[in-house]
Amino acid sequence: MDLEELDGVGPAIAEKLREAGFDTPLRLATVTASELAGSAGIGFNTAIRIIQSAREAAKLDYELASVLYERRQCVGRVTTGSSNLDKLLGGGIETDGVTEVFGEFGSGKSQLAHQVVVNVQLPLEQGGLGGGAIFVDTENTFRPERVAQMATALGLDPREVLERICVARAHTTDHQMLLVERADRLVEKHKARVLVVDSVTALFRAEYCGRGMLAERQQKLGKHLAALHRVAELYDVAVLVTNQVQARPDVLFGDPTRPIGGHVLGHAMTARIYLRKARENLRIAKLVDHPCLPPESATFRITEAGVRD
Ligand code: GTP
Ligand code: MG
Repeated sequence: MDLEELDGVGPAIAEKLREAGFDTPLRLATVTASELAGSAGIGFNTAIRIIQSAREAAKLDYELASVLYERRQCVGRVTTGSSNLDKLLGGGIETDGVTEVFGEFGSGKSQLAHQVVVNVQLPLEQGGLGGGAIFVDTENTFRPERVAQMATALGLDPREVLERICVARAHTTDHQMLLVERADRLVEKHKARVLVVDSVTALFRAEYCGRGMLAERQQKLGKHLAALHRVAELYDVAVLVTNQVQARPDVLFGDPTRPIGGHVLGHAMTARIYLRKARENLRIAKLVDHPCLPPESATFRITEAGVRD
């Protein structure tokens, strides 16, 4: 459906909307009126009218649980490369949701992220979704050579695999947020089924330091996560984000680390995996706070070929 068919949208306004990145009714149906008015430079009341009409067009309304149930049955899953880890996650990294991998440095978060943008390209029967991927790199740790190595190990043509991964290096939190807000077009154009943000919190942590800025940081982080969910749900994409841990000086017993981002992040996740280094290339993954899977652990390895049992 064209934007011009929506109530309140003439050619001039349609132009403004497209320029601001709102190029489909679906995109318009899920924005707030103040955000739309601000970024497209249109009146607040016009924004409300457009959003309402876009919601009707996009058919965003109540649904029966039975319809939802059926849709959940078709949720796609991307293999991690380790059947142990896949089993822990109920079959792999889910589409239509946001999965977080957290752990200390060297625990394998970025390795897993690299593996998933390769694996999503595999056909369905091999644990992929036959789709492309988007990689938002905030720490300058994306390595195409590693992707090529993993692709070769799977018998895929490394050049073709690299052709299907769109990479962006984010330099600030604003930039990171913009890249995700603008991901819609890429998802559609490149048939992407995976969106990685590695790491989701690093820039937030660097820019907003100190207690005084915590509230502001958390609010912005919450908005970013909402944008990630929007992409996951509207386009049936598996979103994978990585996160570091911070020390908890107040804990005497048990694990003295916790993921960054507090409840804002934790509550926004479809699944959270805690990675720990064991000996050599062995890693332990623990599923935490999952809404419908048990809190079990699994082990996997990081090898030359990538993530394996
Ligand atoms: P930070 O981003 O620093 O928080 O860490 P991370 O969790 O992202 O760590 P990353 O995924 O980068 O893991 C790095 C680890 O993967 C290293 O300790 C290496 O041991 C291992 N690794 C990376 N590449 C290879 C490889 O080609 N072969 C093998 N065997 N191991 C590798
Ligand atoms: Mg990393």
